[in-house]
Amino acid sequence: MAFLPLTAVILFASVAAAIPCASITAPAVPGATVLSVIGTEMLNITIPPFPILLPTGVSGLNVCNVNVNLTHSGVNDNVLVEVWLPLEGWNGRFQGTGGGGWATGSGSIALAAAAGAGYSGATTDGGHANNVIDPSAWALDSNGTVNSGLLTNFASRSLHDMAVVGKAVTAQFYGRSPSYSYWNGCSTGGRQGLMEAQKYPADYNGILAISPAINWPSFIMAEQWPQVVMEQKKTFPTQCIFDTFTADSILQCDMLDGVKDGVIGDPENCAFDPYKLVGSTVTCDSTEVTITHAMADVVSKILDGPTNILGQQLWYGLKVGTPFNGIALTVPGPNRTTIGAPFPISDSWIRYFLKRNPNFNTSAITYLDYSLLFAQSNSEYERVIGTNNPDLSAFSATGGKMITWHGLSDPLIFPDGTLKYRQWVERAMGGRSAVDKFYRVFFAPGVGHCGMGSGPVPMDPLDALVAWVEKGTAPETLAAATTDASGATVTKNICRYPLVSRYNGNGDPKSAASYSCASSFASAA
Ligand SMILES: *[C@@H]1O[C@H](CO)[C@@H](O)[C@H](O)[C@H]1NC(C)=O
Ligand SMILES: *[C@@H]1O[C@H](CO)[C@@H](O)[C@H](O)[C@H]1NC(C)=O
Ligand SMILES: *[C@@H]1O[C@H](CO)[C@@H](O)[C@H](O)[C@H]1NC(C)=O
Ligand SMILES: *[C@@H]1O[C@H](CO)[C@@H](O)[C@H](O)[C@H]1NC(C)=O
Ligand SMILES: *[C@@H]1O[C@H](CO)[C@@H](O)[C@H](O)[C@H]1NC(C)=O
Repeated sequence: MAFLPLTAVILFASVAAAIPCASITAPAVPGATVLSVIGTEMLNITIPPFPILLPTGVSGLNVCNVNVNLTHSGVNDNVLVEVWLPLEGWNGRFQGTGGGGWATGSGSIALAAAAGAGYSGATTDGGHANNVIDPSAWALDSNGTVNSGLLTNFASRSLHDMAVVGKAVTAQFYGRSPSYSYWNGCSTGGRQGLMEAQKYPADYNGILAISPAINWPSFIMAEQWPQVVMEQKKTFPTQCIFDTFTADSILQCDMLDGVKDGVIGDPENCAFDPYKLVGSTVTCDSTEVTITHAMADVVSKILDGPTNILGQQLWYGLKVGTPFNGIALTVPGPNRTTIGAPFPISDSWIRYFLKRNPNFNTSAITYLDYSLLFAQSNSEYERVIGTNNPDLSAFSATGGKMITWHGLSDPLIFPDGTLKYRQWVERAMGGRSAVDKFYRVFFAPGVGHCGMGSGPVPMDPLDALVAWVEKGTAPETLAAATTDASGATVTKNICRYPLVSRYNGNGDPKSAASYSCASSFASAA
């Protein structure tokens, strides 16, 4: 790999331990009681590569692993905060790491990524099982009531506790406080980063909040919309049929950025009409299928996003060109039928947190039911977990910097929610250039959820954030790379909002040097 992380250079200025690992004592955590603290050296840790969170794996890692158990009075919870302190090569920085889906934290994978890069790192389980797709172990208490204490941990409280614990334990072990603290998370972890900026603005100097699950009560409901549409229309296109629509949209809009590369570079300006495919035939599983008007209706409603029964827009849909295999998944059913496979996180949100009934049948949701559930989701949970307060004045006053990137082919979290939030912040905080001084957003064409997809993925946004916080170098672009179908490396510099990347008209289309940033989102703002 040609991408050498900055951390390789920083290792030389390392700090050694001041006390034995086992001597670490309980930190003070306001609002919580620490039940136990156990420090244990862990030597020669090897963790194989893990998609997105730990792409190259770690080996030979030596850390002091500190487990801090704490509880909040009146909540009856038992939260485990885990901190990994590198025994050699600490870079003087602390990193709080985020969770994914229903998990408040990502455990040892995220810790290994942080400690492997020289940070002291922390994760928290939020007091509940870290199961990404299934909240059944903790969502309801024994009376069938929503476990609001644990939901609050997941939404906000445990994030701040973790920052307090992580920094205090780091200071004890090395004999000095971290010089800088960073948040690093994607998806739920991205939402958590924004929660930190909004609610605990002094916790972190820099926040990397990727593909954030902000606007939770709305976007989670919007993730269920494709299934409601398919059930109500009794039309379940196979993935092969969905792929036909996706391929057609890419064919129609690929050239908008000046280059034919299988990626819609500028979906804002792609006017895709799914009805043009009606009547054409496609071979799926060796069978000729004719595209019907009902199939085009389903695709159209999924791209448009949910509406209420009055036809008013409730939230966004998938960006054109995005695969339908996340929230619009269909699978083979009995007797050669095709049935819907709801996205587990939105499905469980409805069953546990809205209906408080694990057995509630989400397939039976009508458009009227959907409108009511959407409203309930917002009225009951917006204040708990909406995570879209645009007032970042306290965070910016501390000198904090925040970077978000979001894939424009994210099949799970709608990039328009990130765009909307950035525009809210601009309105609340003095306009575009004022916000650019502390919060920059990058939309990555063709990129999926937290990575993957067909477009170049930002390679080291955390290093870009560190350079902004510590050297004042504000990022204009994020260096991105991917490997295309032929095995060739494709590089891009992802432009910062509101700019989009356009081909210069000459030069290698697989090289970042052949592109410039041009305006586009401006028209949509
Ligand atoms: C560290 O772990 C690796 C892989 O498990 C092993 O091959 C190696 O011998 C270990 N090194 C030491 C010093 O224990
Ligand atoms: C600490 O938390 C873990 C995980 O929740 C739990 O298994 C363990 O019993 C707790 N220990 C103490 C001393 O509370
Ligand atoms: C369940 O309800 C009973 C009676 O209202 C109450 O005493 C008990 O504390 C509740 N249990 C939980 C776990 O909330
Ligand atoms: C499948 O088809 C057979 C024959 O038409 C029918 O008897 C059976 O009930 C069907 N099963 C299901 C699950 O629909
Ligand atoms: C759930 O609802 C769907 C749609 O109304 C229905 O076909 C199905 O039988 C229901 N499933 C159960 C277990 O009741």
